[in-house]
Amino acid sequence: MSAAALEVVRLAKTFGGLRAVDNVSFAVPHGSVTALIGPNGAGKTTVFNLITNFFRPDAGEVRFYGTSLARLAPGRIAALGLVRTFQSARIFPGMTTLENALVGAHLQVCAGPMRQMLWLASARREERALIARAEALLELVGLAPHRDIAAAELPMGAQKLLEVVRALMARPRLLLLDEPAAGLNDSETAELSALLRAVRSNDITVAIVEHNMSLVMDVADQVVVLDAGTVLASGTPAQMQSDARVIEAYIGQDAGIA
Ligand SMILES: Nc1ncnc2c1ncn2[C@@H]1O[C@H](COP(=O)(O)OP(=O)(O)O)[C@@H](O)[C@H]1O
Ligand SMILES: [Mg+2]
Repeated sequence: MSAAALEVVRLAKTFGGLRAVDNVSFAVPHGSVTALIGPNGAGKTTVFNLITNFFRPDAGEVRFYGTSLARLAPGRIAALGLVRTFQSARIFPGMTTLENALVGAHLQVCAGPMRQMLWLASARREERALIARAEALLELVGLAPHRDIAAAELPMGAQKLLEVVRALMARPRLLLLDEPAAGLNDSETAELSALLRAVRSNDITVAIVEHNMSLVMDVADQVVVLDAGTVLASGTPAQMQSDARVIEAYIGQDAGIA
């Protein structure tokens, strides 16, 4: 856990007069699960949007394994292995659960006789390997029994788990998850927890925005607390849970830190 997977250096973004992200710096150590927490409106999603260049920062820099991401298009950043999910699930409603997972691996999902004829044996082997990997991930989050149903028919929590599976199918080096447990019930949250532990043991680094504190305590090695666009504190989950400034920032918020 020595080298940094991600370095966020003095990042800033204003919307109109609002300083949504103000001089934010933190590092995500390779192999860690780093949680970004803070009250609603603290700037967490904006930080993710700046890291992945969905928004251009007003100032600051983001480095991914030492390489500056400035001016790289979001798709290019994903191709480098920095893959994100969104706060509300973005699945492809016209595809099955399995097909949605496979999209993450950029597999063409159009079936039919033409494809059968054109594909070489090696491509079919590759497809079988991808399907096997997708099935293993779906199994891990309890979605295996639903692999052939339309993803739009899955409950919201299941759609969010599917989005994490799809992101993993892209073989990320660093996975950014924006509130993956929001809308999940207890058993889905436990499945997400198991998935995140499996992810870490596969040498994938994770940065997670999450309000569910028991999940954060369960999976995070490091916690960065944002408040009103700035880094309020950072440390281990236990340190943050007993930090007076952090507790203060959460007073009046529905998302308690206890
Ligand atoms: N595209 C945008 N345009 C204008 N204001 C925005 C935009 N995105 C976020 N904001 C504002 O920036 C602040 C931080 O938002 P956000 O990053 O979504 O917070 P969080 O994810 O921590 O809840 C909020 O005040 C929000 O209203
Ligand atoms: Mg957000």
